[in-house]
Amino acid sequence: MNKKIIEIIQPDDWHIHLREGKILDLVKKYSSRINNRCIVMPNLRTPITTSALAKKYIHEIKFKMNNELFDPLIPCYLTENLNLEDFENGLKNGIFIGAKLYPNNTTTNSKYGVKNIDKIYPAFEILEKNNKHLLIHGEKISKELTIFDREKYFIDDELTKIINHFPHLKIVLEHVSTKYGSDFILENNNIAGTITPQHMLITKEDVFYKDIINPHNYCMPVAKNEEDLISLRKSACSGNKKFFLGTDSAPHLIEDKNNVSPKPGIFSSPCSLELYAEIFEQEKSLYNLEAFSSINGPNFYNLPINKKKIKLIKEKWIQDEYTEENGLKIKNFFGGKELNWKVLQ
Ligand code: NCD
Ligand code: ZN
Repeated sequence: MNKKIIEIIQPDDWHIHLREGKILDLVKKYSSRINNRCIVMPNLRTPITTSALAKKYIHEIKFKMNNELFDPLIPCYLTENLNLEDFENGLKNGIFIGAKLYPNNTTTNSKYGVKNIDKIYPAFEILEKNNKHLLIHGEKISKELTIFDREKYFIDDELTKIINHFPHLKIVLEHVSTKYGSDFILENNNIAGTITPQHMLITKEDVFYKDIINPHNYCMPVAKNEEDLISLRKSACSGNKKFFLGTDSAPHLIEDKNNVSPKPGIFSSPCSLELYAEIFEQEKSLYNLEAFSSINGPNFYNLPINKKKIKLIKEKWIQDEYTEENGLKIKNFFGGKELNWKVLQ
């Protein structure tokens, strides 16, 4: 019997971590396997807070990708003491695609993130005026809240205020992880969301067993309940223009994972598009994969839709357990497991 093949417009990844130096060397082949354009997150050890740092990082990525066409789009990492003139120039000159808000200490390398969001309203004003996007890690941390409540309280206590204050500001709620979050996106104007494969595949039971953590399924925002997973699948697979592909593939070395306090982040790049295809097929929505992966994102960012096409074949294969080279080792999401789709190279 002939194997099923689907063809879609080349996808973009609207949320990925490529890191720098040796880790970038190790993971770069996976992103360039599928994408020519990615939003590369600015949460490096020295976060990308100035246009000079962004230029240097763009240069490093382009040089290492060995592909002049590869287009890394960098949002500026917002801090409470940002140089606003440099920020605005960076936006105007196309060095920054927009800006990323990391609330303080919510995730990897967010210790320079924002403690008091009111203080960065001048940066939001600049974004709104220049029709540029605000990307948000939507979690609120407080002693009274569990790890599972952070998204909801961010939405209630911060995001609602931002939206009321800046009604024309285009916002992306990154890696939306709850039904509450996806409903909020549906109900409000000028806001869209990226959805990761992991939030449509695992729940908190895959992360925590009693008090034991599975570090390889641990990411921020943490996976939630079955009800959330179902809602995210429905949103992604609906074809609704407010939802698009952002893998949040976030590599960490194995020694930073097998640790008393493992770093959050799931590395899915070696099979992320294959996982999305599988999810869309399970939801009987393969015909909407292209909108989610290749059309809704560029439309929201006012960027051209790619011209090239890629093919996926329905074929069983086993994902390698690890990505490793030169003594560096990263656990692959779905490592050792069987997948049903494969991108045709
Ligand atoms: C990301 C990382 O490791 O940089 N981690 C994660 O759990 N998703 C940061 C982020 O997007 O929160
Ligand atoms: Zn991320």
